[in-house]
Amino acid sequence: MKFEISNNPLDTISADVAVLFVFEGKKTFIATNTFSSFDSAVKGELSKIAKAEKFSGKKGTSVVAHFPKITLPTKVLLVGLGEKDSLTPNSYRKAVAQIAKLHKDKIDSLSISLLSADFIDVDIATQAYLVAEGIGLATYTFAQYKSKNDDARDFATVIISVDKKSQKDVQEGIQKAELYLQANRLARDLVNEQPAIATPTFIAKIAQDLTKKSDVVTCKVFDKAELEKMGMNAFLGIARGADTAPKFVYLHYKPGGKNQSEAEKRKIALVGKGITFDSGGVNVKPDGYMTTMKQDMAGAAAVIGVFSVIDKIKPDCEVIGLAALTPNMISGKSIVPGDVVKAYNGKTIEVLHTDAEGRVTLADSLSYAVELGATEIIDLATLTGACMVALGVGIAGIMGNDENLIETLTVAGNETGEELWQLPLPEDYAEDNKSDVADISNLPASRWGGAITAGLFLQEFVEKTKWAHLDIAGPAFAERDFPLGPKGGTGFGTRMLLNYLLAQKK
Ligand code: BES
Ligand code: ZN
Ligand code: ZN
Repeated sequence: MKFEISNNPLDTISADVAVLFVFEGKKTFIATNTFSSFDSAVKGELSKIAKAEKFSGKKGTSVVAHFPKITLPTKVLLVGLGEKDSLTPNSYRKAVAQIAKLHKDKIDSLSISLLSADFIDVDIATQAYLVAEGIGLATYTFAQYKSKNDDARDFATVIISVDKKSQKDVQEGIQKAELYLQANRLARDLVNEQPAIATPTFIAKIAQDLTKKSDVVTCKVFDKAELEKMGMNAFLGIARGADTAPKFVYLHYKPGGKNQSEAEKRKIALVGKGITFDSGGVNVKPDGYMTTMKQDMAGAAAVIGVFSVIDKIKPDCEVIGLAALTPNMISGKSIVPGDVVKAYNGKTIEVLHTDAEGRVTLADSLSYAVELGATEIIDLATLTGACMVALGVGIAGIMGNDENLIETLTVAGNETGEELWQLPLPEDYAEDNKSDVADISNLPASRWGGAITAGLFLQEFVEKTKWAHLDIAGPAFAERDFPLGPKGGTGFGTRMLLNYLLAQKK
């Protein structure tokens, strides 16, 4: 898909569908700049049609019109955005996405004109970003394994119509959207790929290949023998049951240029849970709970997605990406309840439930981030069903030891439409993670507050480092089609992290 900018009004742009927005009014709809200029080009005919259809501009409704003799677009789509005051950047992105989704299989080109400042409370660059990103997210498909690829069609061109003086801003907004989309698509692809293909070796190779395209990104992949020497025994304990080789990915971005400022001394570690398939281990998951478990590396996928464009985002501090990659499998070699493993930082973990494997692998990844000298750690993990019970499938839980970091990430996510909601980490709940035989147990004594006890478990491995933990079990994988994409991996967190890194530069 290609985004183009045109200084011409929509009625003179040739496209399969031209999109015009209006708002909902009391009796009739409220015209916008994009509507009015088109309506006058067709001498008020569009108003007449809308009136005849009793179109109110209600959110989610639309009218289709054709003006073959007077205008160039084949079809005109008049879309209601609902009440003017209820329009937010996120609802605008979603509205555009919905239109794109509805038409993507039927048409090749779509033209759209931007709302003027009286109608939407964002600058023109942001509006162009929202439009391009909404369309890009909505039209994503993963059709590799469909022998008939009917759903895989996409727009060849999207033309954004805007006056000449805003052209540069629009260009800027589109560029940002294209970067975010590229990273998001990689994360979605990695999650959607079948577990037999998306093995630790396969994913590690993709991470490694990112360094070929950039001289500011390096990647080291540790294999089993190296991990044994290093003492990553928590991770290796979980990997024991699988036939596929475990891999530990260490990505590193170092800003170019010589004079390192104070800001550049920061070292942000992004840590992703990387369970390439979660069977539950010998505490095997019950029927129905395993079908979407290829998603259990969505945290790692988001981190790799970020690194795929990090040299274009160019943060002015070091960024580290870590992922411990293995499936959680059942065999005669599998870890079993009662086994004790020693994590990278020397703490011992009693594994009382093999399906609470994520926190065990993260124990090593987080302690490694601390040892690398990270000044802040952000982990993303499809960690607990309990977080889904608490917040549903649309919102991720965020926990941590630094309110400022939590707040900044939440704002970054709000801007990309990836919602985070803070859960507390009350000290006394840590009682539940006590073990009779080791320093800590991976199975909380109480089943209540499972997202929180998991967060408290992770906290034991970040020491005093500033840290935020995102439990993305809900939003990482869509079990139904949604406005911003099809069922499957959503790439949740990828754009939020990029947005966070960008915001750090200002
Ligand atoms: N990967 C799962 C959590 C999960 C569930 C992610 C649904 C996405 C969708 C995790 O490894 C797990 O199984 N957690 C257990 C922990 C429990 C045994 C303490 C859970 O949440 O039930
Ligand atoms: Zn599990
Ligand atoms: Zn898991």
